Amino acid sequence: MIIIDGKEFSKKILEEISNEQKEIVERKNLRPAGLAVIIVGENPASQVYVRNKTRACEKVGFYSETIKLEENISENDLIKKIEELNENDKIDGILVQLPLPKRIDELKVINSIKPEKDVDGFSNVNVGKMVIGDESGFLSCTPYGIMQLLEGYDIDVNGKDVVVVGRSNIVGKPMAMMLIQKGATVQVCNSRTKDLSKKLKKADIIVVAVGVPRMIKATDVKEGVVVIDVGINRVDGKLCGDVDYEDVAQKASYITPVPGGVGPMTIASLIKNTFISYQRKIY
Ligand code: GUN
Repeated sequence: MIIIDGKEFSKKILEEISNEQKEIVERKNLRPAGLAVIIVGENPASQVYVRNKTRACEKVGFYSETIKLEENISENDLIKKIEELNENDKIDGILVQLPLPKRIDELKVINSIKPEKDVDGFSNVNVGKMVIGDESGFLSCTPYGIMQLLEGYDIDVNGKDVVVVGRSNIVGKPMAMMLIQKGATVQVCNSRTKDLSKKLKKADIIVVAVGVPRMIKATDVKEGVVVIDVGINRVDGKLCGDVDYEDVAQKASYITPVPGGVGPMTIASLIKNTFISYQRKIY
C-alpha cells in the first residue's frame, strides 16, 4: 500500500513556482503575481482557509490582499469590490471564500469575477470550458489537485471504473468531469445513494467528498482500490476524513491520509492557477 503524500507533493509544486517567480521578479524586473481573497463575515473555518491561502502566497513570493467584509454587506457592494479588483493590474486572481451569507446570490457574485481572474474556476465560463476540455480556463482547485496527484503517482484513470461520492459544485461535479475528460468511466453517488457499498466494491478508484466522518469502511471496497479522501471532519478534537483510513488502508493500493492528502493540494492548485493567470498576462 502506498500513501499518497499530498503534503510533500504540494511542497514541490510550490517550490517550483517560488523559484520561477523569483527569477521573473529579479531577472526581468516584473511585478509578482497577485491574489485577492475576499472573506465575508466571521465563519471560523473560512478564516482558517483564507489565512492558509494568503500564507501560501507569501511563501511563494506573490503579492496578496485579504479583503475582510462585514457579514451584513450588500450584494451590490460586494460586487462593486470585485469589479474594482477586476480592473486592478496588480491582481491576477480573485477568490471569494464560500459559503457566503444565505441572502447573497453566490452564483451572481462568482460570475461577477472576470473569468480570466477566476482562479477558483467556479464561474459559468470556466466550468463550461472545463466540461469541454478547453484549457484556456481554470480548473477548480480541489479536483485539479487530485488529478495532479493521480498523474504524479502514475495512476492512469483511462478506462478505469471510478465512483465519486459527493455531488457538490466545488468537488463532486467538477471531479467527475475531469475524470471523464481523461477517459474514466465515472459514477457520481452521494450519501443517500442506494446500495452504495455494492457500487463502491466495483470501483478501481474512489473519490469521497461528503463530510461524513469515516463513512467508507474496508468492507465497502475491493482489494487494490485507489482511495482519495476529500473529507475534513473534526471528531473529538482530531481531524479525520470520510474514509475509515486505518481500516481501508488494509485493502487499498493507494490512499490519501487526512490531514496531509488532498488538503495541501487545493492550495497548491490555487497558487498554480494564479501563476498561470499571471503568466498569461505578462508574456
Ligand atoms: N469553500 C470551501 N472550499 C472552497 C474553495 O475551494 N474555494 C472557495 N472560494 N471557497 C471554498
